[in-house]
Parts: sequence; C-alpha cells; structure tokens
Amino acid sequence: MSASILAPRDYYNLDPVGAKRDLTGAGTLAYITQDQLHPPMVDDEEIWQDGRRWHEGSIMHTLDAAALCEFHPGQTVLDIGGGVGGPARLLVDYFDVDVVCTSISEEQLKTCQRINASKPAWKYHIKTMTHDCQKPFIRTNFNCVWSMNMLYHIESKLDMLQNARRSLDKGGRLMIDDWMLTPRATQYDRKVLGHHFISSHFAVREDILSLIASSGFRISHFQELGHIGRTHLAHHFTEQFDKHFRKMIIESNPEYGPSIAEHFCDAITATIDLYLQEKLTYCRILAIKE
Ligand SMILES: C[S@@+](CC[C@H](N)C(=O)[O-])C[C@H]1O[C@@H](n2cnc3c(N)ncnc32)[C@H](O)[C@@H]1O
Repeated sequence: MSASILAPRDYYNLDPVGAKRDLTGAGTLAYITQDQLHPPMVDDEEIWQDGRRWHEGSIMHTLDAAALCEFHPGQTVLDIGGGVGGPARLLVDYFDVDVVCTSISEEQLKTCQRINASKPAWKYHIKTMTHDCQKPFIRTNFNCVWSMNMLYHIESKLDMLQNARRSLDKGGRLMIDDWMLTPRATQYDRKVLGHHFISSHFAVREDILSLIASSGFRISHFQELGHIGRTHLAHHFTEQFDKHFRKMIIESNPEYGPSIAEHFCDAITATIDLYLQEKLTYCRILAIKE
C-alpha cells in the first residue's frame, strides 16, 4: 500500500499499522508518539536522545501549546483535526475544559471515543464529531479553536480561518501549531513533501500569518520551533527510529510493516533536509478574534 496515493480521509481510515496497537487512525505514530499525532517539538536533548521518550515529548509539546491559551475551567475548545483525541484528553486532564474533537476520519473518532470511554472525565468532557474544518461549524460560542499539526491537509486555509473565527465567542482564541514552509522553499520541495505526506497544501509561514491577520484575528503570540528540527530531530531521528521503532513496526505487520517503516523514515529524512536548509519551519501562533 502506498500512502502517497491515498486521500487524507482514507489514509487515516485504512490503517493496518495503527490498528495493531489499538490506535486505528494513528498510523505509524501509534508506535512512536502514540495518541499524540504530532512531533515532540520540545527543546530537550534528553527527550530526543531516547526514542522511548518521544511520546512524553509530544505530550510536553501539547502542554506547551496549551499554556499559551490561558484556559479556565469550564471553557470550551473546538479541536479541528483532533486525531485520535490525545491532545483533547490532555486539555481535559490539565485544564478542566470541554472539548469538541473533530476530524474528517471516522476511524480516528471511533478510536477517540473508545479511549474516552475508559475515563469518566474524558467521556463527559469530550464530544466527537466528523467535520471538515473548511465548512462552517454548527456552534459559534467556543472560547478556543485549537489546530495542531493539520494545516498541511487543508486546501482552503481562508475557509478554515473564517469558519474558525465564526465558531469563536467574542475575544476567543485561535491556537495554530504546525509546520510551515519558509519563502526559501521551491516548487520541487513542495513536490517532495507532497509525495511523502500525501498533501499538496503545504503553505508558507508568511502567507499563513497574513491570512490570519486579514481574517479578523490579532496575532498575540508567535514562536518559531524550526531550530528543533535542525538540531534534535536532525541529530537523533534515524538512530532512535532504527533502535526503538523500525523492528517493532515490521514485526507487528509482516505484510506492510517493512515498507511502511521505510516510507516513514524517508518522509522524516526529507523534512530534516528541508529543516536544515531552513526551507521548513515549525510555528506556534496564538491569535485573538477581533
Ligand atoms: C497529523 S493529524 C494531527 C492530529 C491531532 N491534532 C494531534 O496532534 O494529535 C491531522 C489531523 O487533521 C485531520 N484533518 C485533515 N483534514 C481535515 C479537514 N479538512 N478538516 C478537519 N480535520 C482534518 C485528520 O483527520 C487528522 O485528525
């Protein structure tokens, strides 16, 4: 199975790899960052030099982004592209908020619901809904729209931002945490990423920032995390992936495992190359609805 020919929805739904870890929809990350479907972009050498701690790093990553949002108990969060709900569960556990976790993948949401059912706080404080963030959301009174590691799937960022704004209460916050191209990236680089990550919607940081500002938001915080890609990720990825994850993926999936592990490794190696050339970066943005 070549991931590069699947649409995002099918990529997350047809998931023989994640299913083996009881995390259907999490794909290869089920083995690595588990229910947190984003890299551990934390500036912490000790985490990076031990792949077994990457899940912990991805949790720290989520909590760092959450700290920006200044949540109060009882506030409401719309998580767009919520994966299998890992970040949503952390938001409930650490900040006592209510989360609506949305995704275009029904399989991810089924996994999310199944895990949520194991703890009353998750069951009662997280709702799930299949929804494409480029379409208007039914509710319009959220305190925060949370978007983590999903922008590259989105064809119309303008629709996404306008709908995010519409779903927020007055003064509501938009948290965007994602990898973005820099102006140095070429068409060829986009093609390379498109091949590895089944998406042709990678966007340039400056374009995203100006689109946020012109969509009725005031940017209150901007943070670059690209240096983590150029340092810790670049130094440790291959060695740690081979040491802790490749064999596990292959052994639990004799049919697809070898090519899936190889595909994942090639994809991350390609991003490291782009991080090193400063054609790719990772940004965290907090914007307030005006
Ligand atoms: C890499 S995962 C990140 C998941 C989660 N935010 C996390 O950090 O664990 C990307 C997510 O975006 C979702 N997604 C892709 N296109 C979407 C769309 N148009 N609307 C809503 N979600 C979408 C996918 O289904 C998936 O849940």
